[in-house]
Amino acid sequence: MKGSENKMEIIRKVKEMQEISDRLRHEGKKIGFVPTMGYLHEGHLSLVRKARVLSDAVVVSIFVNPTQFGPGEDFERYPRDEEGDKAKLEAEDVDFLFIPEAGEMYPSGYQTHVEVTEVSKGLCGDFRPGHFRGVATVVAKLFNIVKPRVAVFGEKDYQQLLVIKRIVRDLNFDIEILSGTLIREEDGLAMSSRNAYLSPEGRQKALSLYRSLLKGKELYETGEKDASVLVKAVQKSVESTAGIVLQYVEIRDAETLDRIERVGKPSVIAVAALIDSVRLIDNMILGR
Ligand code: PAJ
Repeated sequence: MKGSENKMEIIRKVKEMQEISDRLRHEGKKIGFVPTMGYLHEGHLSLVRKARVLSDAVVVSIFVNPTQFGPGEDFERYPRDEEGDKAKLEAEDVDFLFIPEAGEMYPSGYQTHVEVTEVSKGLCGDFRPGHFRGVATVVAKLFNIVKPRVAVFGEKDYQQLLVIKRIVRDLNFDIEILSGTLIREEDGLAMSSRNAYLSPEGRQKALSLYRSLLKGKELYETGEKDASVLVKAVQKSVESTAGIVLQYVEIRDAETLDRIERVGKPSVIAVAALIDSVRLIDNMILGR
């Protein structure tokens, strides 16, 4: 708790987490929540710090959610480091770490899903069918378990952030959704738990995503506003690096994710690619 010297508590049971949240709310404490899949890095921790200053009690969850991984994706080998994660969160003065068990989150007979129809379409939605349904469902469940007043999500997963804002509005969750800017390594690579899969050569190739987005941004800032010209420039730049399989480059309205022809309002250039069969995403906001 803010200003106290309590050790972080680890909670593994849904009922126990709900009881703690009820108690905190009853005591008038504002709960701030950061959901994660673990293997934490500075990107995650930046969100935790944001939650820390805005709330009285900070809850972080770690759950590698099986329903957001498609067949053949990396669910089984998703990197895990519970001990390392605990130490990092304790150092950030987190109050509760919620680590639910898959069997309790999805007991046999489970059949309810949350589907955000429009914002989930296109971009990652096209390449990962069912992914955002899995994300929306688990986040709605976590909101009902943790009962936060504020929750913080990263702009790294830009489409996910908008999916979550949509759920909160459409399903009347009484939760304020805040976003954290995308955190990069010193050389510009977007931080991701999946970077751990990259070979040293793959990691070098991955930098092409950042460099290409930067080119697009520079072109925009020097006057190019035609979305298709900007997209082509970024595409060409990514494709000039051997060993990258580009999935998409797109420019969308940053608030609605609507397709746009000219960049007038704040927009996002988003990219996804496979490098050594590791799927990486990155984006930059234009005009903000
Ligand atoms: P995960 O990939 O662990 O990310 C947890 C949160 O950290 C997300 O809000 C994500 O956008 C943010 N994040 C990751 N890398 C970041 C970076 N480099 N800079 C800023 N923020 C970053 O996203 C998920 O988990 C899951 O889909 C989840 C929401 C937990 C649902 O299962």
